[in-house]
Amino acid sequence: MENNRRRFLKIASHSLGGILAAGIAAPLAGLGIHPLLKETVYGTEDFINLGKLEDFPVGVPKKINVTSSKMDAWNVFEGLVMGSVWVLRKEDNSINVFSVNCPHLGCGINWGEEEKQFLCPCHGGVFDMSGKVISGPPPRGLYSYDTKIQNNSVLVNYNKLI
Ligand code: FES
Repeated sequence: MENNRRRFLKIASHSLGGILAAGIAAPLAGLGIHPLLKETVYGTEDFINLGKLEDFPVGVPKKINVTSSKMDAWNVFEGLVMGSVWVLRKEDNSINVFSVNCPHLGCGINWGEEEKQFLCPCHGGVFDMSGKVISGPPPRGLYSYDTKIQNNSVLVNYNKLI
């Protein structure tokens, strides 16, 4: 009688442990393996389309919102604003996409049309058109994003700062 009870408790505790382990492992495995599930959680895009090359005037940085779409079960949310970037089209039609945040303490930087420089209003950080620090406390130049031009569209990898 005592042995049967022990055996039952042993089997029951092992079964419960197995069920709990499967409950934890299955979602983790799903995130690592199943692309649809991964897209549902993280969104589908690595590179986000910022617009046509001709939308960006040469030599004049343009601040634009970065938007994306996200799928949540059966709903697709279009045009979610993820943040903003400064886009600069250069003479050779290459593109720089800068973070809007100052590398000092993160304040939003502005483009000074008269000065032809990026200016940080918080502590006077100044950056040239290529993002290099000219003066002020910022320890480095502006952060920029991995960017490419494809089919005449400007694409940015908003997850990859360089
Ligand atoms: Fe920009 Fe300090 S946050 S200079």
